[in-house]
Amino acid sequence: MDTQLNKLYAKREAVLAGGGIEKIAKQHKGGKMTARERINALLDEGSFIEIDAFVEHRCSDFGMEKTVAPGEGVVTGYGSIDGRLIYVYAQDFTVIGGSLGEMHAKKICKVMDLAMKMGAPVIGINDSGGARIQEGVDALSGYGQIFYRNTLASGVVPQISVIMGPCAGGAVYSPALTDFIFMVDKTSNMFITGPQVIKTVTGEDVSQEQLGGAMTHNETSGVAHFMSANETECIEQIRRLISFLPLNNLEDTPVYASNDDLNRVEERLNEIIPDNPNKPYDMKELIELIVDNGDFFEIQPYYAKNMLVGFARIGGRTVGILANQPKELAGCLDINASDKAAKHISFCDSFNIPILTFVDVPGFLPGVNQEYGGIIRHGAKMLYAYSDATVPKITVIVRKAYGGAYLAMCSKDLGADQVIAWPSAQIAVMGPDGAANIIFKKDIETAENPQEKRQEKIEEYKDKFANPYKAAARGFVDDVIEPQFSRKRIAAAIEMLQTKSELRPRKKHGNMPV
Ligand code: HXC
Repeated sequence: MDTQLNKLYAKREAVLAGGGIEKIAKQHKGGKMTARERINALLDEGSFIEIDAFVEHRCSDFGMEKTVAPGEGVVTGYGSIDGRLIYVYAQDFTVIGGSLGEMHAKKICKVMDLAMKMGAPVIGINDSGGARIQEGVDALSGYGQIFYRNTLASGVVPQISVIMGPCAGGAVYSPALTDFIFMVDKTSNMFITGPQVIKTVTGEDVSQEQLGGAMTHNETSGVAHFMSANETECIEQIRRLISFLPLNNLEDTPVYASNDDLNRVEERLNEIIPDNPNKPYDMKELIELIVDNGDFFEIQPYYAKNMLVGFARIGGRTVGILANQPKELAGCLDINASDKAAKHISFCDSFNIPILTFVDVPGFLPGVNQEYGGIIRHGAKMLYAYSDATVPKITVIVRKAYGGAYLAMCSKDLGADQVIAWPSAQIAVMGPDGAANIIFKKDIETAENPQEKRQEKIEEYKDKFANPYKAAARGFVDDVIEPQFSRKRIAAAIEMLQTKSELRPRKKHGNMPV
């Protein structure tokens, strides 16, 4: 037995050593943890159980038969976060650059299959040179099998991708199929082809960081959802995100004990909306005044800042939040904001998370670029996602709600279960200035003093339409409330909607605009 045990110890030790001391030192020098260090930091202490530590590649081309790859370049298994089951894989860059071969892919697929059967999230930590070049089509097939499973798991278990190194080729498409992408500033990259290939093909000069760094994908492309200054901060953010989510699509979200009074009256809300309708204010402050302990976990804070999305809790229960941000582009809906919102709505609906929408929207952003960029099909994603969502939907109109954008921000007609308005709400086809110019054009032009007449007509329009009462008179708004009581009213709506069940016509799936 001793001999057998010694053999086991030696094998285990070889696997734990990864690519060796030198490569590990290089990883550390670059501000990066090893795959095992990352998993240990991410999961509850001592909870990680490894699977497939002894898997080996079976490639014999290009001298690979002599290459030993401990753990096949990826550490896989399961453990817990706050005591809840989580499946995890972390590519080991110290072993053949974390490149993905046939058996490496099989290890990842095994944990994904287990996660789907057990109904638990998968967190994939990516640090890889992509498809292992020596393994050719076997490596490509490996990626294909992962993409396939990413798609099967979509809407079944939350899938989280963490980019903690250079990720090229196939290594970026699997994350793109998952629900959330985390990146670390200065140490993570994502691109389908690197700067050298781009230089050859298009002649463009671009650095790795400019092309696919964390800020690029958080601010410009919208591919990533979170950016952290370092890996430790990134791991903290992942754990925080997990705390808001159910483990699968059949579970309710976790409920935490809340010490924040549901009846809390927030006087500041009565004065947060400026008297001047064109003056911006910070919608984030408004949200923080309403949710439990002012704790709003924002997603994609650097991208499409005119649309705020994220998670918070009310009465200890998770809510998905969407809101226009008047501080950015006056809170207009544009292409990027529509994409950002549609993805969040769809995620919340997949995982039984009630959607709380705060509205202050002057309209869709006009412009040639927007039209050429396809604002029609992008905006349609929002209409589709809200209409398609059957989770509880609560809408609070705090100021402007004009035209198509009023409809798009979860109006009654798109299936909002409760629409609550503040007295400052203006629900109309357009703003008073524009409306008066069109419908009172003749009166204004023929008036003795057109300027005075214009102002008079604007005021007349405001009195009639720029308020919540016309919409309330038709039942498009369920109630008009004093802003300071918003938390209590929203909490009551969430409680009332707990048992919501809505059946839709049977179909294979809809055809969401893309
Ligand atoms: C095999 C690889 C590899 C790969 C890296 N290595 N990428 N081995 N296949 N794809 C190996 C290196 O040879 C090296 O081995 C070790 O990993 C570390 O790599 P370095 O180059 O020394 O590290 P670094 O300088 O940090 O550069 C990292 C890198 C670079 C930027 C990722 O290695 C690189 O550009 N790799 C190729 C990226 C790529 O084009 N991949 C194919 C994508 S195509 P030694 O023995 O020297 O330590 C793809 C197809 C799927 O993925 C598409 C599906 C849609």
